[in-house]
Amino acid sequence: MRIKRIYSPLQCPARIAMLVAGFVIVMASLGLVSTASAAGSSVPLETPHIDPGSKKSLQRGAKLYVNYCMGCHTADYQRYNRLARDLDLTDEDVAEQLIFTTDEAGEPTKPGSLMVNNMSNEYGRAAFGVIPPNLALTARSRGVDWIYTYMKSFYLDPGRGGIGVNNTVYPGAAMPHVLWELQGWQKAVYEDDGHGGEKISLELASPGSQSPQEYDQTITDITNFLAYMADPIKQTRHKIGVFVLLFLFGLLAIAYLLKKEYWRDVVH
Ligand code: HEC
Repeated sequence: MRIKRIYSPLQCPARIAMLVAGFVIVMASLGLVSTASAAGSSVPLETPHIDPGSKKSLQRGAKLYVNYCMGCHTADYQRYNRLARDLDLTDEDVAEQLIFTTDEAGEPTKPGSLMVNNMSNEYGRAAFGVIPPNLALTARSRGVDWIYTYMKSFYLDPGRGGIGVNNTVYPGAAMPHVLWELQGWQKAVYEDDGHGGEKISLELASPGSQSPQEYDQTITDITNFLAYMADPIKQTRHKIGVFVLLFLFGLLAIAYLLKKEYWRDVVH
């Protein structure tokens, strides 16, 4: 005997479950592969080989950051003890090696505090003409390629009065070349770009304490650290994402079997 179809496709709960699970899997997969877009810049940007899973690189980046950047830049969305947990350090490591600031009472900053520096906005404005920006989210606003290339692109420019340097990625930047001891000084070489304009390339005029390869590694580590600060739970999220996808694939299989079971005795 021929049995009439009892459900329209969308009345069947198993089909609905399959549709929903399939949709969620596709959306989640798209979400995993999407990457943050970088802010535009007129010079070609270099892409650093950062490894967000490397705790060693992040530890080196954190150390460089507190030594060379935090005098001017704050990162007040990040707490020291959170950093310790994420970078496999103890609170004692952090207190000994990464905290150089004091709190309002003049005591060394506690590991539970935010990574705020001791420079006031008024001082920043008076010294540099702009307040050195909070770097906690810069890896999102500018992108890692921008930060990495920016840190490589300081060059001597006697025309720049007080700070004496300029930057090809951020012309007229108010930031001095704070890593000059490591990189050395670069000078600009001006060439005709063939279209009536000028092309600037940079060459090392006096070397610093690091070779160009070592310096590239140094700024790769700093960039890696800034990328971590801009998205501290990225690694955790990716791990959870994989489990969620596995779970959804499991659910899809169950929903499929359930659908077969429902329709087993029904002749189309
Ligand atoms: C002596 C103070 C000082 C130090 C130290 C310093 N900076 Fe800066 N930085 C500045 C100032 C001032 C600006 C703002 C430049 C402008 O907008 O003209 C700036 C801007 C930046 C920007 C651009 C941010 C944006 O979105 O515009 C980045 C990235 C940056 N600094 C990274 C670093 C890193 C990494 C270090 C450590 C290696 C560092 N800075 C150390 C003063 C400093």
